[in-house]
Amino acid sequence: MCGIVGIVGTNPVAMQVVDALKRLEYRGYDSAGVATLENGHLTRLRAEGKLRNLELKLSQAPLTGAIGIGHTRWATHGRPNETNAHPHATDKLAVVHNGIIENFRPLKAELTAKGVVFETETDTEVVAQLVTDELRQGKTPMEAVAATLPRLRGAFALAFLFEGEENQLIGARHGAPLAVGYGEGEMYLGSDAPALSPFTDEVSYLEDGDWAVLTRDGVEIRDAGGHPVDRPRQTIPQGQFTANKGNHRHFMAKEIYEQPEVVARTIAHYVDFAEGRMRPLDLPVSFAALTRLSITACGGSYYAALVAKYWFEKLARLPVEIDVASEFRYREAPLEAGQLALFVSQSGETADTLASLHYAKAQGQHVVSVVNVPGSTMARDSAVVTPTLAGPEISVASTKATTCQYAVLLCLAILAGRQRGTLSLDDERRLVAALATVPGTMSDALKLEDMIEPYAREIARAHDVLYMGRGTSYPVALEGALKLKELSYIHAEGYAAGEFKHGPIALIDETVPVIVIAPHDAVFEKTVSNMQEVAARGGRILLITDALGSQEAAMDTMGTIVMPDCDPVVAPIVYAVAVQLLAYHTAVFMGKDVDQPRNLAKSVTVE
Ligand code: F6R
Repeated sequence: MCGIVGIVGTNPVAMQVVDALKRLEYRGYDSAGVATLENGHLTRLRAEGKLRNLELKLSQAPLTGAIGIGHTRWATHGRPNETNAHPHATDKLAVVHNGIIENFRPLKAELTAKGVVFETETDTEVVAQLVTDELRQGKTPMEAVAATLPRLRGAFALAFLFEGEENQLIGARHGAPLAVGYGEGEMYLGSDAPALSPFTDEVSYLEDGDWAVLTRDGVEIRDAGGHPVDRPRQTIPQGQFTANKGNHRHFMAKEIYEQPEVVARTIAHYVDFAEGRMRPLDLPVSFAALTRLSITACGGSYYAALVAKYWFEKLARLPVEIDVASEFRYREAPLEAGQLALFVSQSGETADTLASLHYAKAQGQHVVSVVNVPGSTMARDSAVVTPTLAGPEISVASTKATTCQYAVLLCLAILAGRQRGTLSLDDERRLVAALATVPGTMSDALKLEDMIEPYAREIARAHDVLYMGRGTSYPVALEGALKLKELSYIHAEGYAAGEFKHGPIALIDETVPVIVIAPHDAVFEKTVSNMQEVAARGGRILLITDALGSQEAAMDTMGTIVMPDCDPVVAPIVYAVAVQLLAYHTAVFMGKDVDQPRNLAKSVTVE
């Protein structure tokens, strides 16, 4: 992961670099660092932990160079301490790196045999030393980088700053994103365009294998073969990236509360409410022509894909194969050419999902992605993007982007049902009417916050928490457990309710809360039976259901959260709000870092 920045500027750039890094902190926050050139000499400052620690150091000992690079880290190789913090430097250069150099061991062994002494545990230091080795042989910085890049395996983006080179930065992209920004007598590099938005709205995106030489006058971009190439300049909309917490204590709370609005906006993109119909979509292939659909994603986005499997199979009678991208990409799944492969991602930069997308493309699949970040690599590499319109999501734990994913996937499933003739016009109108209720029902669910908060205090005392659900509530149980563990660090697992008796029920005692997601739907009674099996063994149950469900099955153990009534088809979107609030308040009560939980990053650009 990690975020990287480079600036060839006209004034001291260190604080500009930090400003850009703040916008990249979603990529990691284990340590941060900056290097500049002062009178041609490399100076660098690094700090363990979040960017504010680096800022503090810079305020005490400012760096004054007008050219510099910076980094915010999500540790892959080596502990997140100051020694392992980027930039890594030799007497000839400094480098920042996002990604993994997979063959760093043999490279390190080769350099060690030559007498190079390594100071850090990182894979990045081999890059610094390899380029330095080439420089010592008399090569220019460009020649040294050109000689080194073909030797590196893995997915990475790099930015180099050279001793004595006051007007030259070199950036390289291989499997991890890197954007070039154009300013007035200044040039920029950044892991994404939003990082550069305080300085410029003109960017071009490097393509895989590209490397770029930046000076104050512009940029020269070369492809992997060393041939000069043009990468089109694009204008990024300004103002899109301003992020503040409004009246909320955390970004996560703000994003939870934005859901009725952004889900409404997303649904309206796909639904013509005046007609009570789905809007036609320009997809590369009709759902009617498919024999199967594959959906691939990671983490919470994978759970959205799992909800979608239920929707597509039921509403469109379309068999769906879903997989987590880290498994799919190496499974060599046989894919019949001409089918549709769907990819789901908030960031559009998740390395495993991207690699799976490229695999599917190579297998002749039509590639469509459900992505939240316009201009992301996934958006650019897909035949068609069916966007989630959640707006920028800052909190590391996804909330509004997830429920917008659910909304888009339900819309696609309805469209598929119509195209495949498994849904009638009346069915479509009924489902559109159900979609229309979602924003209002989500607003009603948010009003339950005060009622949910006391349960969070109880959950906070537990060491293990189990979630269960059936049908589309099963992925919501998985999502609830994921939210709880990533925010509160309490061990939590989600299970299909019917699976409990096959093992997990052995964990039940009076110390383990079991959160049961059970709207009064077609499988409600089955879930209640499984819940009773848990209660009979002393389990403490928090039932999340609706009025009818509570009337029929409320238990006198831990409690019942009575959700607003909704059509079961949209229940996952509404019930997601309850599991989000529960996890959020547990973490707040425990004093955890809600927006930036330990060990995580918002955009997972390493495999
Ligand atoms: C959970 C969460 C992660 C992401 C996962 C995929 O709250 O945010 O599990 O869902 O890392 O990320 P994207 O959706 O950006 O591909």
